[in-house]
Amino acid sequence: MVRAYSISVEDVNAERERVDQDESRVDISRVVKMDQLELAEMGSRDVRLRILAVSGEHNIAHAALADTVNIADLRGGKIYPGNSAVGEVVETGAGVERFSVGDIVLTHCNGQPDRFGYPITIYAYDSADSIGWYGEEAVVNEWQIVHAPLDCGLNLWEIAALPLRAPTAYHLWRRAEGIFRVKVSEERLSTMNVLGFGGGVSELFLMLAKARGHNAWFCSGSKERREALEAMGIPGIDQKAFNRFADRADTKAFMKEIKKQTDGEGMHLICDMLRGPVFEASMVASAREAVVVSAGWQLTREVQYNSASASIKQITLDHTHYDTVPGVEAATELYGSVFRPTIHHEIYGFEDLPRCIVEMQENTQTGIPIIRIADQMPKKVSELIP
Ligand SMILES: NC(=O)c1ccc[n+]([C@@H]2O[C@H](COP(=O)([O-])OP(=O)(O)OC[C@H]3O[C@@H](n4cnc5c(N)ncnc54)[C@H](OP(=O)(O)O)[C@@H]3O)[C@@H](O)[C@H]2O)c1
Repeated sequence: MVRAYSISVEDVNAERERVDQDESRVDISRVVKMDQLELAEMGSRDVRLRILAVSGEHNIAHAALADTVNIADLRGGKIYPGNSAVGEVVETGAGVERFSVGDIVLTHCNGQPDRFGYPITIYAYDSADSIGWYGEEAVVNEWQIVHAPLDCGLNLWEIAALPLRAPTAYHLWRRAEGIFRVKVSEERLSTMNVLGFGGGVSELFLMLAKARGHNAWFCSGSKERREALEAMGIPGIDQKAFNRFADRADTKAFMKEIKKQTDGEGMHLICDMLRGPVFEASMVASAREAVVVSAGWQLTREVQYNSASASIKQITLDHTHYDTVPGVEAATELYGSVFRPTIHHEIYGFEDLPRCIVEMQENTQTGIPIIRIADQMPKKVSELIP
């Protein structure tokens, strides 16, 4: 038996009843609970991992709030969440070829690739029987892990921030760039204007834009996160100066600012991970032929836009999800050289994980939140602790 966090439908429903179904009052820490878990028996292609560190991810909040679907209910009453982790291989099945005991690995959460490799389901969320990594140990099939690039120049917490967010950003980037290039060749426009709205995934998207020689801007309400990106040559735009686009006048003022910053051109690629009012801001910031990509639904799933104006401006809206397994491998190559994530100043302990998720939902963190699971770290990992 190992300790692991779970989310049960009883707790989800009890908390919703306690707050009279008012989602904004749900206390996630009453729903994400420390539990016990019996590890699955090892199969020949399985690997047993000791989990070292994980990052806080929004799908935990979605599961606890049941704001998209009630996933604990759909999965039969309980899920063990956590789909981004750094682990140490402590046992391998007889048929495992790519990993040995002592290897340090990253998990990926593509739970069930379709015939082109894109996930139909996500591991530890809607993949049947998948047990997540917010626990002391886990048994996974070897296809679910990749080698951690320990010599990439990032510290342990920075590496732990990336297994879910970097492949998402890499996939968003490939899609946005590829779609734009169908419309406008490099010969016609070599340097694109690229905008990202708040959050870890958008930050990584902008790092890719910058590394590929494009102009990039980061529109965020967080001073600390803007400053971190500014240090990489990515100027910030304070989202709160536009009241987070609360009404039409704010969005218009934002449009003016974007025109000013881009010499009247607007943005060619936009990463909007939040939707809601930010969606309207994406539309007004768009240059002709722009591509707006998103894999998020944090503020709302439902969006509206003017299709005539999108059509006249040749704007493309694209929705993505997590990457393919080769995409995960390619994104992992970019750790340190392109992806240098901002980390929240507190590294949470295992027991503090519910508080971490609450604070992530409250949007009070200064970067991507990391939870240290193991007290004892292998030597090659402890050397990477700042
Ligand atoms: N489909 C996929 O494969 C996939 C993968 C990863 C993430 N996602 C989704 O993408 C979204 C973002 O994920 P992330 O990992 O980038 O998140 P993150 O690093 O936690 O950042 C979330 C950002 O949300 C912004 N925010 C929070 N509350 C806000 C509000 N009321 N108004 C405006 N902005 C607000 C904050 O921006 P400020 O800096 O402006 O405060 C914050 O930085 C989530 O919905 C997540 O579930 C989907």
